[in-house]
Amino acid sequence: MRLDKAAALAGLTRSEAKKAVAAGRVCVDGAPLRDPAAQVAPESVTVDGRPVAAPQPVYLMVNKPAGVVTATEDRHLPCVSDLLPEALRRRDPGPVGRLDRDVTGLVLMTTDGQLAHRLISPRWKAEKTYEAHCEGRLTPRDAEAFAAGLVLSDFTTKPAKLEIVEAGDDASLARVTLTEGKFHQVKRMFAAVGHPLTQLKRVRIGCVTLDETLEPGQYRMLTQGETDGLLKLCGLL
Ligand code: URA
Repeated sequence: MRLDKAAALAGLTRSEAKKAVAAGRVCVDGAPLRDPAAQVAPESVTVDGRPVAAPQPVYLMVNKPAGVVTATEDRHLPCVSDLLPEALRRRDPGPVGRLDRDVTGLVLMTTDGQLAHRLISPRWKAEKTYEAHCEGRLTPRDAEAFAAGLVLSDFTTKPAKLEIVEAGDDASLARVTLTEGKFHQVKRMFAAVGHPLTQLKRVRIGCVTLDETLEPGQYRMLTQGETDGLLKLCGLL
């Protein structure tokens, strides 16, 4: 959009906007720009220091390390927001759902509250996939039990997919996919079939897969394709 048109979003007429540009009252990314025809993103424009447009929502992924809590602040422990640079933290993106402190992997963070809400609501059936290391040998009967739904003390789980990747006498590795996320759910499901978890990592939410080039503790913004995929999944695009 042209700079003078963006400045007019502040409630100025087109000629007032042109005068404001000429007077250096219109800034792009904090610096005055005096070319009224310059092409700019409205969310980077201020008039007299005030933004003219609501900023674009933020969508990002974090590769959460163990020991970090899925929260924006905590009095005693490091939290996922501490992994973001100050400029992003100021936008105050919130985590989408929670991972337990000892669980690692994909955490989505966004300022888009409606998307966050739908991604964790069972109604929208966004799949979450975890890599699970557990004790003992997993068998196809465990996969059948996950698919049938497990009766836990306070609820019965919705059908979940258990893919056995490696099965040994002492330990196994599996990928488990579910569309709900109750408290400690995956841990409780494995305990219910007699295979307590030793490690859990989330690797996918809907169409977004954890970027394995991210070291634990690193983040990156979602691509437009990833964001659009999530918005479509949740009926928002
Ligand atoms: N299931 C769990 O038990 N813990 C998590 O953090 C996520 C899913």
